[in-house]
Amino acid sequence: MELNLLTFLYLVASVTFIVGLKMLSHPASARNGNRVAAIGMTLAILGTIFLYEEEGARLGNYGWIFGGILIGTVVGTLAAKRVKMTAMPEMVSLFNGMGGACAALISLVEFDHLAHLDPMMAGVLLMGGAANAVKGFLLIIVLGLIIGSVSFAGSIIAWGKLNGSIKDFSFKGQHIFNILLLAVIVALAAYLIVFLPANAVFIFYTIFFLSLLYGVFFVFPIGGADMPVVISLLNSFTGVAAACGGFLYDNKVMLTGGILVGAAGTLLTILMCKAMNRSLTNVLIGSFGGGSSSAVAAAGGAVGSHKEISLSDTAVLMSYASKVYIVPGYGLAVAQAQHACHELEKLLESKGVDVKYAIHPVAGRMPGHMNVLLAEADVPYEKLLEMEQANDEFSTTDVVLILGANDVVNPAAKSDPASPIYGMPILDVELAKHVIVNKRSMKPGYAGIENELFFRPKTSMLFGDAKKVLQELVAEIKNL
Ligand code: TAP
Repeated sequence: MELNLLTFLYLVASVTFIVGLKMLSHPASARNGNRVAAIGMTLAILGTIFLYEEEGARLGNYGWIFGGILIGTVVGTLAAKRVKMTAMPEMVSLFNGMGGACAALISLVEFDHLAHLDPMMAGVLLMGGAANAVKGFLLIIVLGLIIGSVSFAGSIIAWGKLNGSIKDFSFKGQHIFNILLLAVIVALAAYLIVFLPANAVFIFYTIFFLSLLYGVFFVFPIGGADMPVVISLLNSFTGVAAACGGFLYDNKVMLTGGILVGAAGTLLTILMCKAMNRSLTNVLIGSFGGGSSSAVAAAGGAVGSHKEISLSDTAVLMSYASKVYIVPGYGLAVAQAQHACHELEKLLESKGVDVKYAIHPVAGRMPGHMNVLLAEADVPYEKLLEMEQANDEFSTTDVVLILGANDVVNPAAKSDPASPIYGMPILDVELAKHVIVNKRSMKPGYAGIENELFFRPKTSMLFGDAKKVLQELVAEIKNL
């Protein structure tokens, strides 16, 4: 009866994961989607703690279990409450690393169980024709160990690179070294599983150590701007590693959760690459946005002269426009100017101006960054237009106001085959009558390259911190 109840809880939890994931695909339902999946996860955890039985015995150890849950809950809640929007990718990376570590720990514990099987029992298993079953079990353990360790070590390096505590490190021939390292890990794993050698424990721990090393070297050479893509890829690794745990324990909800994370992470990785028009290989070995010499050189060379616009001229231009598009970018998130931006939008709307936002799929530093940022300021979702829709509208737009965006409006993506962002679809802001760019200086964006748009005749620069500029702009328009 209780086992049935547990199975039922697992089924409910699996369904909540799928429904929650579906709800995450739209900003309006994303918060509730998160809640639905969290409730399912709570049911699965509590069900396992109180209802799971092995050989007639419950789990016990409640002090340890709830002690761990309490510490995790406090740390997780504080971290999530305190994290700044701009530091979100690094927090995701850290949490993902913990998931990878859990999957690797499961493999370590289960290998220990296997290695310390009563010798007689082990003999019976092997001689009784169960060697294949042991090998199958070992295969899952080793897979979980490798993938979980790579995900853990890689995520920690990604976290350190994003918060600046770990500097880029690479050496000549690093990609070859990485491929060789991976080949050694796979060869050792195959030897262990096929031959079940006497020194299996030594080999197992060597695989563990080399996998951690591989995780470190895998992420080290990848360029800074590509970290979100790598984090998403590592996230999918963690999902696969967790699914291995589900196989080991014959636990359906763990299997479902792991597969969903693995599949979602893979899809997200592919979508991000597509939105940047880059292959995954190029992301993994391209050193994009890592401050390469060519990018730095490009950043130093101006391509003409730019013109500036004053706050009062901007206020007049926008107030008397009939259609204004706002293009938010990473700088808007840095300045935390989303509320001031919403205020400007409402003010202009009250004057009869049609105001909309043009959202580029990779604006900011994580998928949906701009949607989440603007949702925080209660900007209605119907005001947010995707890139393709916005590009159709620019030719009938009077003013485009670019707030802290750079790469996503860089025409070099269309016109300069030598540019690292060549081929990336961009927002065609130049089709509008006037383009006003707000940023603090002429410095480049994340790709580290010059933006010719800033020097074009239609473009005017409005320098300053986005929040301050927007607040002053609102005051100016109110005084008109
Ligand atoms: P960026 O090209 O990074 O440009 C942001 C601009 O904001 C900078 O040029 C900066 O110029 C300005 N800025 C910074 N702080 C500011 C402040 N307080 N007030 C006003 N402006 C400020 O941003 P983007 O256009 O959003 O492009 C995103 C980039 O990240 C793309 O290259 C994309 O490929 C990459 N990327 C994104 C993702 C996802 S999923 N979103 C994933 C991987 C990579 P100043 O310093 O002069 O102010």
